[in-house]
Amino acid sequence: MSAATATARAQAALTDFRPRPDDIRGDAVAGLSRSPKRLSSKYFYDGEGSRLFEEITRQPEYYLTRVEQELLDARMPAMADAVGPDVHVVEYGSGSGRKTRQLLQGLHGVVAYTPVEISRSTLLASTGRLAAAFPRIEMLPVCADFTRALTLPMAARTPRRTLMFFPGSTLGNFTNDEAVAILRAMRETMGNDGRALVGVDLDKDPAVIEAAYNDAAGVTAAFTLNLLVRLNREIGSDFALDGFRHRAVYARERGRIETFLVSQRAQDVHVAGRTFAFADGEAMLVEYSHKYTDGGLAELAAAAGLRLVERWNDDRDWFGLRLLAPA
Ligand code: AVJ
Repeated sequence: MSAATATARAQAALTDFRPRPDDIRGDAVAGLSRSPKRLSSKYFYDGEGSRLFEEITRQPEYYLTRVEQELLDARMPAMADAVGPDVHVVEYGSGSGRKTRQLLQGLHGVVAYTPVEISRSTLLASTGRLAAAFPRIEMLPVCADFTRALTLPMAARTPRRTLMFFPGSTLGNFTNDEAVAILRAMRETMGNDGRALVGVDLDKDPAVIEAAYNDAAGVTAAFTLNLLVRLNREIGSDFALDGFRHRAVYARERGRIETFLVSQRAQDVHVAGRTFAFADGEAMLVEYSHKYTDGGLAELAAAAGLRLVERWNDDRDWFGLRLLAPA
């Protein structure tokens, strides 16, 4: 199947829940009006941000992607056995990358694949690529906001169960309350016999974690600063790019990396006709990246009506995959 044919098929199969487009300007003004100031990490991923994130995954200090992929490779037979045959795989985010392919290849028979993604163009492009690689799997993309429960499109062949796939420790970017809401949405979407396979970065030596978010080549710093580049371009703000510095700190008592952009001098920033004053040294919060313990994760799962079925960690207990089921 050609890429064009595959994309056309993906489009024909699309379930479009018409998610409300992001209000970048409104969110930026609201966040800058808070004390301490903050901006949302969900706006990191424009074209350049996505490219920089890919580059982060190749940095020697950023172990997360490598360890998760090795774990998927090494433990796929056990995961496939635990999940069983004839699965409808639902992925939060439009995965067309290596991890998605590993899963679709490794499970005992995938009936259908549903990526859930807010950006229609990203969704169709990645579904098209996967359709070409997996011609026997029915592609049923859904354009929706994955933080809410959704009704899945019906597959032509009846699946035995739904498997929600949420790799990459993306869950960690959300506060614990938001994470519970997402897990609860997964619980609703998967049905009574469903399962969820969630990738989570684990609590460990703070030096290892902090190095991953402060790589020597400065790629993570560029990734964080790209948020300001994007805002300047898309909402006409005037952040001085040499006026802010990336700083990522592991707050172990809160179980998370907290990433800030720190103002290098007293300065004013203008957004949507409003002026926001930054003090010299003022830190603006731009991202959380939670690192989980078994206990912490069990609490989140329980609050969402889920229970732990299986856990797989790498040898050093740096990263984990968790299989969850309705409680
Ligand atoms: C894509 C959410 C997994 O939190 O580790 C990487 C994003 N931020 N370096 C993470 C990120 C800074 C990443 N996730």
